[in-house]
Amino acid sequence: MLEKLDEIEKKALELLAMVEDEASLEAWRIANIGRSSAVMNVFSQMGGLSKEERPLVGQKANQVKTALEKAFAERVETIKTAALAKSLANEKLDITLPGRPVRRGGLHPATIVLRRMLGILAEMGFQVYTSRDVETDEMNFQALNFPPHHPAREMQDSLYIDAGERGDNPVLLRTHTSPGQIRAMREFSAENPENPPSIRIALPGMCYRYEQITARSEVQFYQIEGLAVGENITYGDLKGTLADFARRMFGLNAKVRFRASYFPFTEPSAEMDVECFVCGGKGCPVCKNSGWLEILGSGMVHPVVLQNGGYDPRRFTGFAFGMGPQRQTMLLHRMNDIRYFWGNDVRFLNQF
Ligand code: PHE
Repeated sequence: MLEKLDEIEKKALELLAMVEDEASLEAWRIANIGRSSAVMNVFSQMGGLSKEERPLVGQKANQVKTALEKAFAERVETIKTAALAKSLANEKLDITLPGRPVRRGGLHPATIVLRRMLGILAEMGFQVYTSRDVETDEMNFQALNFPPHHPAREMQDSLYIDAGERGDNPVLLRTHTSPGQIRAMREFSAENPENPPSIRIALPGMCYRYEQITARSEVQFYQIEGLAVGENITYGDLKGTLADFARRMFGLNAKVRFRASYFPFTEPSAEMDVECFVCGGKGCPVCKNSGWLEILGSGMVHPVVLQNGGYDPRRFTGFAFGMGPQRQTMLLHRMNDIRYFWGNDVRFLNQF
């Protein structure tokens, strides 16, 4: 029995020396020191031994078992160390290798300017109000004091999208953001018709016109509408607000002028020009030798429009303005063709 134990130990150690990886380590453990291994079997056969033999064999079996367990633990350690060394060598990270550049997306130039303008208007107290792109003739024209067949409709040739089912109130794509004035005023005055709240909103959105596409006109373009309604709002407030906007947008030295104009929904109406920043007002091709660049239309909200929005014109006054962020982008960057905006040419877009 004692010789058999020596034999078991010798064989197990030989096998252990051949074990190279963690999977065969586990197989070795089960076969050589596991519950049905040869050493363990010796313990269960002890009952058949004589009284003298039993302590000797027991002691020897314990020694063999401990020796094998110790050898196993050492082997585990060796294999783990070897595996670590191997993976360190194989998976070496070269931190001197230059990184691969990440391709970044960017905002569209029209979006950049739109957001900048909305940011300036927000500082001045104008909250963003969004309205729909698809409008009715009533909202886009009639409620804004354009009667049916009024010649002023020709200022804004429309894209109609119904086939006449709605008579004299056809569906169309908004030609300007001004119908949002009516929607906002109606929404706010409906909350409290007797005592409607004052309004200060900026209304951004895409507008659509049935136009020949040229260097200066597109069938779709952004506008930002501004609307302030309240008690005691004067034309002085309009001028002060818009001149301040121009300084925040184009710099403290920006000079502006107001030119009388006509819109059916404002009275009086004015267009605002900034002094040409290409030539400093001397006259050049960008300002067509006038020294001035037109940037927006504006005016005091027409009493009929206030009435249509649910605001009593005997008590409330207001001013409104509409401007084109793309036009201002063109002026700022001296772009000579509006078609670049929706042309999807990355060489153009990458410059912003
Ligand atoms: N809606 C006008 C346009 O598109 C601009 C405007 C807005 C004028 C508000 C006056 C007041 O031309």
